[in-house]
Amino acid sequence: MGKATVDLKKEHESILFVIKILDKMLSDDKKYATDKARYYNEVLYFFKMFVDQCHHGKEEKYLFEELVKSGLPAKEGLIEELVHEHDIGRDYISAMNISLKSGEMSLFHFAVVEYMEMIKLHIEKENNDLFKRADRLLDDAKQEQIYSKFEEHEEEVIGHGVHEELHSMIQKWAREFKVD
Ligand SMILES: [Fe+2]
Ligand SMILES: [Fe+2]
Repeated sequence: MGKATVDLKKEHESILFVIKILDKMLSDDKKYATDKARYYNEVLYFFKMFVDQCHHGKEEKYLFEELVKSGLPAKEGLIEELVHEHDIGRDYISAMNISLKSGEMSLFHFAVVEYMEMIKLHIEKENNDLFKRADRLLDDAKQEQIYSKFEEHEEEVIGHGVHEELHSMIQKWAREFKVD
């Protein structure tokens, strides 16, 4: 068992690692367009499944909810701002999806760059502000309780199979684009 905020921080590391790989994918000029489109589709799958459904789902359904119960305002404050950024992220994911399907690569590039910039700032805000407040407001027992909800959520939303699949995809991209 581990603490909820430690788990989310670990996931932030994985998200930032994928963003680092994606940066290299975008600037790579050696791969064929069809190969790049395949990689972009895989990264988009990671954003949809891991970042949005799994990670943002854990935050919205469990952590934010507990923090509101512990006194953080749900509206007009950090929580509202973070939820709003999750929504903007969903819009970018949907723009990436549409543009990849229709082959409008300039729109795809625009959406992906905006998304990466936003997610990096969002993660910084959570690591440096939200999680510090969470660690002050929630005791160990509460953090453990949220963590077990996270485990259930993960199993329900992506399951062990998809988790393993995403993990091996990341390893493959890292090898292919020489990122460590
Ligand atoms: Fe978040
Ligand atoms: Fe997060």
